[in-house]
Amino acid sequence: MTTHSYRIAIIKGDGIGVDVTDATMAVLDAARRRTGGFTLVREELLAGAGYFEEHGVDIAPGAEDAAGAADAIFLGAIGLPRVRHADGTEISPHLRLRDRFGLYAGVRPIKAYPNAPRLLADPRAADIDLVVLRESTEGLFWSAAAHERDTVCNDDEVQDVLRITRPTTEKLHDFGFRLARKRRERGGKGKLTCVDKANVFRSMALFRKIFDERAAAFPDIERDYRYVDAQALDLVRAPWECDVLVTENMFGDILSDLAGGLVGGMGMAACAEIGDAHALFQPAHGSAPDIIGLDRANPLAAILSGALMLDYLGERHEDEACAAAGRLVERSVEAGFAAGRLRPMEFGGDMGTRAVTAELIDILTDPA
Ligand SMILES: NC(=O)c1ccc[n+]([C@@H]2O[C@H](COP(=O)([O-])OP(=O)(O)OC[C@H]3O[C@@H](n4cnc5c(N)ncnc54)[C@H](O)[C@@H]3O)[C@@H](O)[C@H]2O)c1
Repeated sequence: MTTHSYRIAIIKGDGIGVDVTDATMAVLDAARRRTGGFTLVREELLAGAGYFEEHGVDIAPGAEDAAGAADAIFLGAIGLPRVRHADGTEISPHLRLRDRFGLYAGVRPIKAYPNAPRLLADPRAADIDLVVLRESTEGLFWSAAAHERDTVCNDDEVQDVLRITRPTTEKLHDFGFRLARKRRERGGKGKLTCVDKANVFRSMALFRKIFDERAAAFPDIERDYRYVDAQALDLVRAPWECDVLVTENMFGDILSDLAGGLVGGMGMAACAEIGDAHALFQPAHGSAPDIIGLDRANPLAAILSGALMLDYLGERHEDEACAAAGRLVERSVEAGFAAGRLRPMEFGGDMGTRAVTAELIDILTDPA
């Protein structure tokens, strides 16, 4: 049997990013020992607000190239509110990585786990299982400060641009239809909803037009449409009816946090950012300055992002062992909640970062 070896570029970043990355690597190692068949070779790269404070640049020299040479990039969290550029924006080298490596498909799964808090009283909230597919290189983030693309920027006026392009949008919608199909094959609903504001903006009308064009190649996949304001309402009113929601960058940024709140909070919000030749995996949360150094962070968002990374590597390299390790991590999180063995402090439980990590390793090593 071939043993695949994958190079993983690791950027722990700031605050709890460091702790949740360490937790993730420990869990992935345990899963890998269980399934065998592949190895992970890690290279740590330095970047973030702390690095900027010390060195005056937000990423170490050569680190962007090294990230591009890896099979996958894993990132903890970047940013500290006290560290800012002169224009008031924060340190965000990860936006450049998305841009440079064309990581257009931001996959943000939202799932209700047993015994985890649910904000909605309706019992159907137990069935929440959806994905926000957030385009991650253009949209309203195209003119984010990190890219220095503002058209008008002075002390009296600033304009940011919402950019939609045909090549990226075609790839995004194709990704969405394929993802919906994959979820249906795994027992899910298999529906793709185009979330936009096509009634008002030409950029969004183009986004929807391209959605319809690409749909022709996926006649087996159910599709529908929501304006983003109505989608926000439906995410609170009936999130169990949603499956894959494809949307532009800023809408996806906001909706995925909203949806994450429905199933417990940011500590469960995993994220994959996938392009044609590169991919970056990170929890959707930030550096959580209010709990730095307290061993209170829930590492599961990062760990589930690590599982997405194994799934991605497995699919891309046709490596069943690696994909199986990813599924083992996901199943173990589910089983850990079902058995009351995972009780993160984020949910009022008694387990800090280290305790959750150790228990999860126990569960996946000996699932009985
Ligand atoms: N992708 C990224 O790296 C990323 C994403 C968002 C924010 N940020 C940066 O992080 C810093 C803090 O931002 P913020 O406070 O708006 O968002 P945040 O996600 O860091 O924290 C928001 C709230 O959620 C809690 N929280 C977040 N992750 C948690 C976890 N794993 N376990 C338990 N609780 C958790 C925090 O304690 C806080 O109360 C800022 O500098 C911001 O720019 C970075």
